[in-house]
Amino acid sequence: MNLILIGLPGAGKGTQAEQIVDTYHVPHISTGDMFRAAIKNETALGLEAKTYMDKGELVPDEVTNGIVKERLAEADTEVGFLLDGYPRTLNQAEALESNLKELNKDLDAVIYINVNKDILMERLTGRFICRTCGATYHKLYNPPKVAGTCDRCGGHDFYQREDDKPETVEKRIDVNLESTNTLVDFYSKRNVLHTVNGEAELHDVFKEIQNIIGDVEK
Ligand code: AP5
Ligand code: MG
Repeated sequence: MNLILIGLPGAGKGTQAEQIVDTYHVPHISTGDMFRAAIKNETALGLEAKTYMDKGELVPDEVTNGIVKERLAEADTEVGFLLDGYPRTLNQAEALESNLKELNKDLDAVIYINVNKDILMERLTGRFICRTCGATYHKLYNPPKVAGTCDRCGGHDFYQREDDKPETVEKRIDVNLESTNTLVDFYSKRNVLHTVNGEAELHDVFKEIQNIIGDVEK
């Protein structure tokens, strides 16, 4: 099953991706996570990506298209994939389309998590992440069951993302507003777009996604 999750920063892509990969066992390919791993490992890619991410801007298309192309050529994507945060521009959507054609793969569904921009600031400034397994939480909307302990891995070390400072969040939302509409248009023309209400409670959003996946799997 080949899936894409699109949505503004804080819409819930990563949160829903965790549930999807745990349930359907497809590899989770998040360009944001790939860039953060490269930054942590101080690679050339990481150094370049950091200059854009710190400002809330997009990493250039040719860089991003290159890393996804390489990733989709890996053997674990034979069973499918879940792209999170890619594509993000028209250029990326077109590059992915030709890449998938070369690989002889089709898209089963593009799931757009639709959230009004007004609620994103609170979601992102309240987000914290497990350093051990990457699970995402929110201080009000999705706290761990036992305070200070990760539900997924039992870890106790959490962090906040560098780009979740209010001024950077504002910039990220601005940068993504127009490009997200472009993608919605692109994929609705290809009849693969499904929109879910991302303002619903986390588990209800996942139920809606499961219904979509159930339908496309038939
Ligand atoms: P990336 O890491 O992809 O960040 P983003 O798109 O800004 O999205 P986020 O990860 O912030 O939000 P999310 O939708 O995953 O929300 P989450 O589930 O965490 O990219 C980072 C940067 O990398 C970009 O700015 C760019 O520089 C670069 N980059 C990445 N991809 C690129 C590309 N393709 N091209 C160019 N550059 C690229 O949820 C957020 C919070 O809300 C959490 O606290 C969560 O618990 C809570 N929450 C989630 N769902 C709900 C709900 N239903 N109700 C209440 N709270 C909820
Ligand atoms: Mg994310």
